[in-house]
Amino acid sequence: MLTSSQTRAEFLRFFESKGHTVVPSAPMVVKNDPTLMFTNAGMNQFKDIFLGNSAPFASRATDSQKCLRVSGKHNDLEEVGHDTYHHTMFEMLGNWSFGDYFKKDAVDWAWELLTEVYHLPVDRLYATVFEGAPDEGVDMDREAYDYWKKHLPENHIILGNKHDNFWEMGETGPCGPCSEIHFDLRDESDRQKVDGRDMVNQGHPLVIEIWNLVFMQFNRKVGGRLEPLPHRHIDTGMGFERLCMVLQGKKSNYDTDVFQPIISQIATLSGHTYGNDPKTDVAMRVIADHLRAISFSIADGQLPSNVKAGYVIRRILRRAVRYGYTYLGFSEPFICKLVPTLVGQMGEQFPELKAQQQLIVSVICEEESAFLRTLATGISLLDGVMSKVKSEGKTTIGGGDAFTLYDTYGFPIDLTELIAKENSLTVDLDGFNLELQAQKARSRNAAAVENDDWVELKPEAKDCDFVGYDTLQAEVIITKYRRVKTKGKTLYQLVFDRTPFYAACGGQAGDRGELICGTEHLAVIDTIKENNLPIHIVEQLPADPTADFVAVVDRPLRLGSARNHSATHLLHQALRTVLGNHVEQKGSQVTPEGLRFDFSHFQKVSDEELRRVEQLVNRAIRENYPLVENRNCTVDEAKSVGAMMLFGEKYGDKVRMVRFGESVELCGGTHVSATGCIGQFKIISESAISAGVRRIEAITGEAAERYVDLLVDSMREIQTIVRNPSVAQAVKAVVDENAELRHAVEQSRREKMLSLVESLSGEIGQMKSNNGVIVVARRIELPVEMIRDFAFRLKDSIPNLALVVGVAEGEKVNLAVALGSEVVVRGINAGETVRTASREIEGGGGGQPFFAMAGGKKPEGLDAAIAKAKSLIEDKLK
Ligand code: SER
Repeated sequence: MLTSSQTRAEFLRFFESKGHTVVPSAPMVVKNDPTLMFTNAGMNQFKDIFLGNSAPFASRATDSQKCLRVSGKHNDLEEVGHDTYHHTMFEMLGNWSFGDYFKKDAVDWAWELLTEVYHLPVDRLYATVFEGAPDEGVDMDREAYDYWKKHLPENHIILGNKHDNFWEMGETGPCGPCSEIHFDLRDESDRQKVDGRDMVNQGHPLVIEIWNLVFMQFNRKVGGRLEPLPHRHIDTGMGFERLCMVLQGKKSNYDTDVFQPIISQIATLSGHTYGNDPKTDVAMRVIADHLRAISFSIADGQLPSNVKAGYVIRRILRRAVRYGYTYLGFSEPFICKLVPTLVGQMGEQFPELKAQQQLIVSVICEEESAFLRTLATGISLLDGVMSKVKSEGKTTIGGGDAFTLYDTYGFPIDLTELIAKENSLTVDLDGFNLELQAQKARSRNAAAVENDDWVELKPEAKDCDFVGYDTLQAEVIITKYRRVKTKGKTLYQLVFDRTPFYAACGGQAGDRGELICGTEHLAVIDTIKENNLPIHIVEQLPADPTADFVAVVDRPLRLGSARNHSATHLLHQALRTVLGNHVEQKGSQVTPEGLRFDFSHFQKVSDEELRRVEQLVNRAIRENYPLVENRNCTVDEAKSVGAMMLFGEKYGDKVRMVRFGESVELCGGTHVSATGCIGQFKIISESAISAGVRRIEAITGEAAERYVDLLVDSMREIQTIVRNPSVAQAVKAVVDENAELRHAVEQSRREKMLSLVESLSGEIGQMKSNNGVIVVARRIELPVEMIRDFAFRLKDSIPNLALVVGVAEGEKVNLAVALGSEVVVRGINAGETVRTASREIEGGGGGQPFFAMAGGKKPEGLDAAIAKAKSLIEDKLK
């Protein structure tokens, strides 16, 4: 029996023997593509080749691609765990023809591999073929049908509709008819009862699609029109985990050696046995699946967060925590404990996992702890909601309440339902769904982008050459343009035949500048990249888009970005020298104004370490290392000279190696010609952005100069104020003196208050009572913060005292009422008295029955307020 590793190796070996180049998986987290957050199919990394934007690096390729289907058109999240063959993250084995072989070889080789290498039984295999779509003008795929007929009896070939047999990556883009290969895993007796043919594509867990052969021949345009692609390609995708299930004779992907080690560890940690109870089984499958998705995403540089891809990862992780919490009784972090097992299993094939193990464990652990706390808060809130519902004699928790729990506290609806059920309550799911839809519509509208189709001016134009490493100005023509509407604003996107504009990529901001034709100057407000194509954004179209233009990059802005980008490389190098080689880049942002660099490190970087890092960078700047670049090296060449690179560079990319002295990185960004141009480097902050990831913000060049000037200026200002060049000493003396004075003032105020208490006590001793109560009402002169103490001293020593005092200090005015214990029992309430009387000073406040105080905005009403309080008290004494 083949193990999963052997199965993968056999696949790659087979296609290598058919002339395919074996390429590594592209990262699962997609960077620099606004249309996609995660790789959801093997073809994603080759999209630009299919579209004709980039030349293929070879005519045939094969790989095992890490995929994640959790958002957009392909989203399997809700099925995961409940069935035995869907996953969030999975591997897709693929073979690719870029304008080379087409349907015949694709079908023949798929057949040869399955039946002669993997020895699958022929009578359990079925193939589906596209039946055609007259409304789209696409005929039945007779060609594929005939090729299958060579291998399979006709009753094993099934015609399928657009849903099953026309593959599309998204709403637009490369697409085409496809042939799926299905396998019938059922027992012989079940096969006798119902023909496998009738079970294909019916959702049966044991009659499943294992391989999809896509014949890419169209491009789906905006509005749905299909346009033939310039070249026809093959894109195949075989579900690796499903293939392992078939080859290992199992009935569930989770029973294969891909998942079993993780499942058994979950079983051990939780004390439950897999296979005993459907509910705990689902939970174990969810956790085993999600562990992979989360760990691989973190290894690819995507940390959990509250936005975009980071939010998707956070939700997957929370889903796993919740299943563990609800069904397996985990109330402490547990997913992080599974990481070493996963790394042991997959770390060979995917070294990024091994290299980042420590980071993966600490990020998951922190996320788990935080969410377990949220769960506890959510449960106590839900308890409150449930008691309210019960006290009102109802049996249903409102959809609004359930939605608030879900939306504000991340509390999942099915958990709310479960807890409600345990309390004999239900949840208004319709109401919840209405709220959810409304929220989705709100965020859809906020993010809505409408793109028109491209208007092709030079359809024959191919790649757009980037000439901006060498020049900031170039003569260009517009090869295509389109209108884009976003957030109610209309913009135009232009593609040139060549461009000096750097398109935003790898953290560096896109260039800005001008497009000039005669007297017409159009501002290019940004440059972005889509499918490897630099796109220039302008607010209006040029008068004649077919004219010849001069494209000019804004030089000061570009130089700013270049300085900051080169400084980022020096910073990376310096951090590794000072902190160690565990430091890896986790993200960066480079703009003309400054730089931000995120990196793995497990504690705060101390002030001394930061100082050393800054010194090393500034030393490298003074060394004036020239930029040494190799624009056309292979990934292996770069690795051999120790270039620092993010894992999973895309195979076939033109790799550019950038060296400044000791620092060697793979990088497509723009740089200074020698480090001296950076001028000066200044770190302005260091902070944590998540478990195990720190962030440094820094500035260079003139910005650093201005920053230092500002510091020097404020220092001078302080020197002038303290009249002493030794600022620290002088400021310390001022602070000490201030503390002493404050103490003295406190002391004298206190003495004044005590003497006032004493004199008033004496006075009260002479006063007559009113029905047993001595009422004192007057203005006093005391700081507001002493009133409470003053009033308490009097009321506590004179139990039959009713004291009303007012203080006015400039614009501020306060009224307080304090009642001795004998007065309170007579039904007089200080809080009520103050509330009513303080209307005279336009104030508000209150307190307890024995003491209350209010601040007001009308000092001139103080006497009236005191009088009012007095009369309210006296009325009660009558
Ligand atoms: N693109 C196809 C799929 O994802 C085949 O690789 O199913």
